[in-house]
Amino acid sequence: MRHLISLKEQSKEDILSLLELAQKIKAKRNTGELTNYLPNKTLIMLFQKTSTRTRLSFEAGMTELGGHAIFLDSRTSQFAMTDFGDEIRAVMRYGAALMFRALKSADVYQTASYNQIPVIDACSEKYHPAQALSDILTMAEHSGGIANVKKIVWLGVENNVSNTLTLACAKLGIKVAIVAPEANQQSIDEELNQQAEATNNVERTLNMAEALSGANYIHTDTWMDMEFFENGKVRPQFIEEYERRKKLFMPYQLNAQLVNTYAPQAKIMHCMPCHVGYEISRDAIDHPNSVIFDQAENRMHMQKAMIMWLLEYAAN
Ligand code: CP
Repeated sequence: MRHLISLKEQSKEDILSLLELAQKIKAKRNTGELTNYLPNKTLIMLFQKTSTRTRLSFEAGMTELGGHAIFLDSRTSQFAMTDFGDEIRAVMRYGAALMFRALKSADVYQTASYNQIPVIDACSEKYHPAQALSDILTMAEHSGGIANVKKIVWLGVENNVSNTLTLACAKLGIKVAIVAPEANQQSIDEELNQQAEATNNVERTLNMAEALSGANYIHTDTWMDMEFFENGKVRPQFIEEYERRKKLFMPYQLNAQLVNTYAPQAKIMHCMPCHVGYEISRDAIDHPNSVIFDQAENRMHMQKAMIMWLLEYAAN
């Protein structure tokens, strides 16, 4: 049974198949044709953390596939009062596939280990394959094919999003320059790093000019964790760490001056939500090179392809 968790299990050919399927489904939709390949299928969407894009894009995508998506918040269901393994095995009896935004990737792996239905890691502390694959689609569109993407830069903190994006790009033969003074400790996966580095496509440097030279795309993501915030404010127990990160990472902010100086050809990417004035400036979000909102839209197109690929359906 197929699962999409870390992308360690997927080959270059798998990633290219997903890209081709997403492009086909999106092109069909853009001409006004229906893409209802999965009538009567249900996607279960289990969330242990908050979301805007992931929830909307999976749910809207499943509607367009002719199926149905059920949103399940672990905090307002019975997960809190029982054994996780028992509850998730019951949950999976109701759907054709499960997407799981989990606090711990170990829970996603445990869920997949039952091999009841295909499982997608929809952003855990270590991985975000839906984001990485959607970003591959966005870069392919803006470069006239993924083969034309030669180099990307990851700026800021190494994290779950950079892990899966780096691995996907490295497998596709795209050079990845990581400019990050620190990695988010809970995101580190040595096996993933070794797999990515074995391609000889990954470089870590703090030399901005060298990293940005010849880059086609510059990506960044929040330096902060979702858990730091409540109702738009920093929770008191995280204030010290929030301030420390702000000081450490500010020299690596993605802003218009940086792009215009070192890589005026590079497109600007951010998986969102953006923390404006921290990892990205307003003038970078609104820069003519920004493709950030295309990234957000492409979550839906790629995730439709992911669900179909997992269920081994072809698009005609
Ligand atoms: N990029 C992303 O996963 O966005 P959400 O956290 O809003 O789902």
